[in-house]
Amino acid sequence: MTAFDLNRGALAPVADEVDLVDLSVTGVIPRELDGALLRNGPNPLRGRFEGNGVLSWWPEAAMLHSISFEDGRAVSYRNRWVRTRRWADVYSPAQAPHLPDTNPNVNVLLHAGELLALAEGGAPFAITAELDSLGAPRRHAGVAGGMTAHPKVDPLTGELIAFRADWRAPWLRYGVADAQGAQRVDVVVDVPAPSMMHDLAITATRSLLLDLNVGYDFSLLKQGHRMPLRWHDDRQARIGVIPRYGGDVRWFGIEPCFIQHVVNAYDRDEACIVLDAVRYPWFLRLDASTGRFADNPVGVLWRYVINTANGRVEEGPLGDGGIELPRINERRTGRPYRYLYATEQPTPVEMRGVVRFDHERGATTRYTLPPGDQNSEPVFVPRPGGVDEDDGWLMVVVYRAATDSSDLVILDAREIDAEPVATVHLPRRVPAGFHGAWVPRMR
Ligand SMILES: [Fe+2]
Repeated sequence: MTAFDLNRGALAPVADEVDLVDLSVTGVIPRELDGALLRNGPNPLRGRFEGNGVLSWWPEAAMLHSISFEDGRAVSYRNRWVRTRRWADVYSPAQAPHLPDTNPNVNVLLHAGELLALAEGGAPFAITAELDSLGAPRRHAGVAGGMTAHPKVDPLTGELIAFRADWRAPWLRYGVADAQGAQRVDVVVDVPAPSMMHDLAITATRSLLLDLNVGYDFSLLKQGHRMPLRWHDDRQARIGVIPRYGGDVRWFGIEPCFIQHVVNAYDRDEACIVLDAVRYPWFLRLDASTGRFADNPVGVLWRYVINTANGRVEEGPLGDGGIELPRINERRTGRPYRYLYATEQPTPVEMRGVVRFDHERGATTRYTLPPGDQNSEPVFVPRPGGVDEDDGWLMVVVYRAATDSSDLVILDAREIDAEPVATVHLPRRVPAGFHGAWVPRMR
């Protein structure tokens, strides 16, 4: 795997927590934006990554960033490490035994009035929109033991649909919490071996689990790697279809692949399910002769059509450029949808540019950035009261290499190739991190 310096550029961590006000803005911030964009990602507690490569990056301590908006103003920026046991071991050892032992560094979710920082399979952690740490979830006791960082919320029922993948048995659980956070379904799904599962998809009636070619190999730990995961040619990639509220899982074989992120899925008719995802032809491939990981390829937008009547799956690309970190208007989660937005991946080590796909017209438009700059995922914020699927804004955190600082760029989701609606200029870097969410002000 190409060595890259995690301590330079867009991925580089910050070493402190700050509160900033009077942010400089270009353009006009829409007055309807009332809330905060939260970002989550790994940021070492001592402000420096040890080693390089993705497996030195992913496991580091959770740090949240918030840029808040009110009355057409960018009110403040703040960043905080989540107050976990791991944080206290460095900054407040006396507190450590009383704090949750989890590292929720992947995503942020607002559900049932509770704001959660989410971990890769570990326990979620309740926070406030001001990034204060609250601790174990209070309204989501059913997922307190662990959950994917990419659960799905049904926009019509408010239900939270999730899985928990673990390298210890049981290897896979599936669950549904109701709109108030109470766990209604919690079942073990039988799989022959644990594998790396990062995301799932839902339709209005079913959920899709992804059991793919990246699996565990604990000998990697003895070789000095920090995570025991690698590509396995001999695994059968497959999609599991489970009824929303549990029941028999049907597995459908697909071509070898790895999927980090799902775009969306929906029931096309009673028999056919459409699943759109960012697909890698291989991922985390270990070269046995050198003991090193190969460079990952870029992800490509890919469509699966699963025919539950005849058991066949049709699959193929919808685009040819590299993309990652797809987002949609989440009011369409699990339903037919027209638009998706994603970060462009011009090379495996760059997240640079935003692309909008219009499935109906087969058209793409782009927000481009010069080489050296990088950007986060484009978070879609619906316009309050808006009806059209693309009526809203994309919020994109852009790293500016020239100044080693970050901007929050607000794009009109209908015209991402036009000038940004507004740009909030931060005097310092927001490290690239993983995922984020728009959190409307809770009153
Ligand atoms: Fe993710």
